[in-house]
Amino acid sequence: MLQELETNTELKNALLNSSNVVILTGAGISAESGVPTFRDKEGLWKKYRPEELANADAFMQNPQLVWEWYQWRRRLIHDVKPNPGHYALAEMEKLYPNFTLVTQNVDGLHREAGSSNVVELHGNIRRNKCFDCGKFVEVPDLDLQETPKCESCGGLIRPDVVWFGEMLPADAINLAFNVSRACDLFISVGTSALVHPAASLPVMAMQGGAYVLEVNPNATAITPSVDHTFYAPSGEILPDIVKFVKENRNQ
Ligand code: APR
Repeated sequence: MLQELETNTELKNALLNSSNVVILTGAGISAESGVPTFRDKEGLWKKYRPEELANADAFMQNPQLVWEWYQWRRRLIHDVKPNPGHYALAEMEKLYPNFTLVTQNVDGLHREAGSSNVVELHGNIRRNKCFDCGKFVEVPDLDLQETPKCESCGGLIRPDVVWFGEMLPADAINLAFNVSRACDLFISVGTSALVHPAASLPVMAMQGGAYVLEVNPNATAITPSVDHTFYAPSGEILPDIVKFVKENRNQ
């Protein structure tokens, strides 16, 4: 069991006595499922520059390259499964009266692990839509290399993910802002906390007086300001935290 969970009274109190909990996850929580992160040494952005791929201009200039890159990412995550970190958060949801899981990830693994109250800030790579009319389109063939066209308007089909420079889904980000401002426990898991507006959520939580906990093997942009950081992989530490809360809550 983690030493800090026994000795750090502030941390213990936050985990055992909070009612409004917000979790923010990033690519790191899916790393133990075999999904590459963006900025780690083997991350996606080491091979490509975001400007070349994850934005609308790149797609308009070279739809084929961008489409094939997403097909490659979809094939990559097609067989991956949630890991103990995802399952622990699905368990954790049941332990608090108000619990919101806000994710930057587009892999759909939180829902697959059983989390129900999931806010997908950056969309979902498994969904596709028309670039022009926005109609959702089913594209089951992961090996389709040709960028498909919309049957309704002839526009190009793109993944339903938020690209750099695009607005996040308004309902998702407004909900994330509201719950982060009002929560009493905020846990940032597996994110470098570099990309806004998601990166402003832990700051909003701090300003709202929440206890802010971080789970990440490495220090991040928010490490100096959070209340406590567990320097560990989320797949290892989250199950321990859930076990501790289950065994000690309402004592
Ligand atoms: N457990 C927890 N954290 C981990 C693990 C792990 N097993 N492995 C790596 N990490 C951490 C890394 O230390 C890093 O801080 O996960 C973080 C991943 O950071 P990024 O690759 O920057 O991913 P993320 O923070 O999700 O990026 C945010 O940027 O490119 C955009 O839209 C994309 O949603 C993404 C956003």
